[in-house]
Amino acid sequence: MRTLTVDLNHRSYPIHIGTNLLERVELLLPALAQKRAAIVTNTTVAPLYLDALKRALDDAGVAGISIILPDGERYKNWETLNLIYDALLENRCERSTTLIALGGGVIGDISGFAAATYLRGVPFIQIPTTLLSQVDSSVGGKTGINHPLGKNMIGAFYQPKLVLADTGTLNTLPDRELKAGIAEIIKYGLIRDIAFFEWLENNMAALLARDPDALGYAISRSCENKAIVVGRDERESGERALLNLGHTFGHAIENAMGYGNWLHGEAVAAGTILAARLSQKLGMLAAEDVGRITRIFEQAGLPTASPNIGIERYIQLMELDKKVEGGKMRFIVLDEIGKASIRSDVSRDDLSFVLKVHG
Ligand code: NAD
Ligand code: GLY
Repeated sequence: MRTLTVDLNHRSYPIHIGTNLLERVELLLPALAQKRAAIVTNTTVAPLYLDALKRALDDAGVAGISIILPDGERYKNWETLNLIYDALLENRCERSTTLIALGGGVIGDISGFAAATYLRGVPFIQIPTTLLSQVDSSVGGKTGINHPLGKNMIGAFYQPKLVLADTGTLNTLPDRELKAGIAEIIKYGLIRDIAFFEWLENNMAALLARDPDALGYAISRSCENKAIVVGRDERESGERALLNLGHTFGHAIENAMGYGNWLHGEAVAAGTILAARLSQKLGMLAAEDVGRITRIFEQAGLPTASPNIGIERYIQLMELDKKVEGGKMRFIVLDEIGKASIRSDVSRDDLSFVLKVHG
């Protein structure tokens, strides 16, 4: 097992990464303020991992209340959030009842928002079970739900007490979901870690074959990168925005195609290609680097062409992006592979060019 730390002073917390961690209840105990916890999961993950977690808690004398939600991005909404509040209230959960998210990013995001708001905040643990959630969404405290008009538009910054990433759970993950997680892994290489990007170019086959060493390394290195950025800029007043490379386009794709039809990681992959082409159009990124970026997403079996939803629809959706400031859209662009920056001076013509040729 490896343990990393997200350094946020008195709210610092560990990220434990390794195999068979679900049974290691002693890792959870420091984050449990009472002998009761509410586990939020979904209909897919529950039959796979809920019993093991409940048994481990039970062995330590902790009663686990189960809240099993429908599975899917399209359920990341108010109605499903209310199911969590209903269950917490029906079971008389208290301020010291820890909420445990067991599942992928959808479960992590919605449960985190429930934890941030139930009784004005209860302790929260992330047990991510998808590659994407182990490398990204479980770390950093962004929680929330989708709105019909925009992705992740309602939410809160609310840090977990700990993250427990049992890499053994990835053995049951469908291939398509594994690849979606790789999109966020590539992101770290692109925005701040060229050595990692090069490692990914050389080890993509091992990752796709679920080689445990390769997966363990990629998860740790991703979490290291994310922990540094979040530790410096928890509330995204600057550097953290770089973690959104490809997301402005990607969120538009997810919304326009109907939540869940394009996986988040797939939309981020296609969105990152658009961001790379925009960077090239702005005179920042060399054409050969755009080619190299396209190739790595192809190697990962991720989409590199975006759906043609029309330039106006892209722009309309991107105008609702959380990074918009003073009515101006802001885009994460690449200066080179391994170095990103933020631009708020992208003209409509440049945007139309990128979306017309590649949209
Ligand atoms: P997901 O939560 O929908 O999980 C993908 C699928 O895998 C689901 O069907 C799920 O039930 C299933 N699953 C989960 N674990 C499994 C396992 N071990 N074996 C078999 N099946 C399993 O999707 P995701 O890719 O994990 O997360 C995407 C979500 O994360 C999006 O809503 C996105 O907005 C959000 N996100 C949040 C952040 C953040 O910082 N909070 C960052 C990136 C993405
Ligand atoms: N996934 C972007 C962030 O956590 O900031």
